[in-house]
Amino acid sequence: MKDFIVIGIESSCDETSCAVIKNGREVLSNIISSQVDIHKKFGGVVPEVASRKHVEVISNVVKEALEEAKISLSDIDLVAATYGPGLVGALLVGLSYAKGLALSLNKPFVGVNHIEGHIAANYIAHKDLEPPYLCLVVSGGHTHLVLVKDYTEFEVLGRTRDDAAGEAYDKVARALGLGYPGGPLIDRIAKEGNEYAVDFPKAYLEDGSFDFSFSGLKSAVLNYLNKMNMTGKEIKREDVAASFQRAVVEILVEKTVKAAQKYNMNKICLAGGVAANSKLKLEMSNECEKRGIKFYYPPVSLCTDNAAMIAAAGYYNYKSGIVSNLGLNAYPSLKI
Ligand code: KG4
Ligand code: ZN
Repeated sequence: MKDFIVIGIESSCDETSCAVIKNGREVLSNIISSQVDIHKKFGGVVPEVASRKHVEVISNVVKEALEEAKISLSDIDLVAATYGPGLVGALLVGLSYAKGLALSLNKPFVGVNHIEGHIAANYIAHKDLEPPYLCLVVSGGHTHLVLVKDYTEFEVLGRTRDDAAGEAYDKVARALGLGYPGGPLIDRIAKEGNEYAVDFPKAYLEDGSFDFSFSGLKSAVLNYLNKMNMTGKEIKREDVAASFQRAVVEILVEKTVKAAQKYNMNKICLAGGVAANSKLKLEMSNECEKRGIKFYYPPVSLCTDNAAMIAAAGYYNYKSGIVSNLGLNAYPSLKI
């Protein structure tokens, strides 16, 4: 059978990415141009700066992806791009480029939900993985516990009511003077700290709820740092990082495992930037092993934003009969 080639484009936040994948799961190229060094100076992503930078680099990123994949434009069967959620100006750059490409090639186009893209990263990493399974999507903008019933059928069991897990990591890291993005930095220094040094509060919400809330925990860390500063006591950043991380990971793991049991799921996947976290992977893996649940997570390069995951999700959308109109707009608050 002829190979099916998808080109994917992602520009929802501060990474401009283009990937070419074969038959839904094989990555031929996955070029990521990160703006992180630009936004670092501001301590977070500046939307207008992000859009302008996407415009500057997108053509070269696409060109590089085609060259690395060793394909020409005529080999492309489908064009996929993120159309939400994300920063509207940033989304519009990749989306418009992709629609233009589809129009000029006279090929089908499919818009992809960024969160569904994160989930699809697991198909690239695990060739045998098939729905149904439970997926914990944890990124800078999202914390969702999703029942993946089929490739394009999702039921959200819980979501964050305030800060996303990654957002909490980034804010705590900033308060600790670690820089941006904070997740990997906290992950690193937490390894040197005592995770039982401070007992930060964990919000479990109502009995049986699979929603999350991280703003109370974040505020508790900020209050703790203020109090220590005001009383002139020494702050051990490694201990604070480790104690904060323990609280986040305990909540994430506990709720995910409970949901797997309630919904009879014997497979759990992680997705999103925070899925790169070493403590989360370790604890989830331990809890899954105890219960005979299979545990999957993507490599770090596929956890954070990339276009290969968008192309994979686009492939499964298309195979399920979903195609988008070229009039498709960007939706900054698109829901899964
Ligand atoms: O998925 P992603 O690249 O972008 C969004 O869609 O939001 O996720 C970025 C988030 C940031 O908040 C970053 O701090 C966090 O993922 N992150 C981590 C780690 N690596 C990235 N958080 C905890 N531990 C990590 N190792
Ligand atoms: Zn993302």
